[in-house]
Amino acid sequence: MTQALEATAPLAIDDATADRLFRTARTVTTFAESEVTDEQLTAVYDLIKWGPTMMNTSPLRMLVVRTPEARQRLVGHMPENNQERVSKAPVTLVLAYDTDFHERLDVLIPHMPGAREMFAGDAEMRAGAARTSALLQAGYLLVGLRAAGLAVGPMNGDYAGIDAEFFAENGWKGFLVVNVSAADGADTTRPRAPRLSFDDAARVV
Ligand SMILES: Cc1cc2nc3c(=O)[nH]c(=O)nc-3n(C[C@H](O)[C@H](O)[C@H](O)COP(=O)(O)O)c2cc1C
Repeated sequence: MTQALEATAPLAIDDATADRLFRTARTVTTFAESEVTDEQLTAVYDLIKWGPTMMNTSPLRMLVVRTPEARQRLVGHMPENNQERVSKAPVTLVLAYDTDFHERLDVLIPHMPGAREMFAGDAEMRAGAARTSALLQAGYLLVGLRAAGLAVGPMNGDYAGIDAEFFAENGWKGFLVVNVSAADGADTTRPRAPRLSFDDAARVV
């Protein structure tokens, strides 16, 4: 893996942690052979579930693709250039959002009675809200996986096909496919590409 790109001042985490989570962590395309366990994935979810979502709606859902049979079903809905990676990853997550997230709001928003009913009548609004917060949760998840010593390879699939294949019954909407491996032994094929600077990416007013 690559060396740290820069060590900048005032972070509240140590440099080794910053490197592991961001600076030296790469999007991996080849994977370690060791297993990624459900215990690891549970620990990661139990960490990242605390990240903020709109009104605490928590719409992210995950399909853990582990068996050869399930993997083959998923590969059939990946673009050709992504198929081999999904075939070879120790485990692959299909990230989705649940447009029926409002069914869980009595538990998730106890401080706001009626939240469930507020969302119940507007499926379009729910879909937009679910997608926005689930995308954020996906970001937390990628960083959380790295915090557990894992490496990630996010990629796109044919989500209409994936939804029909896996989510016909629960109505989840897939939006990202993530190959997961132990970081130690995983690698990537191309050099790190630059990123925009703060001055390029931000305007301070
Ligand atoms: C939403 C999203 C979609 C992506 N789609 C693909 C993809 O279809 N195929 C692929 O090989 N990589 C895909 N990537 C990986 C990116 O190209 C990679 O994360 C980016 O170039 C940064 O690489 P680095 O982490 O090694 O610096 C995707 C990443 C994200 C976050």
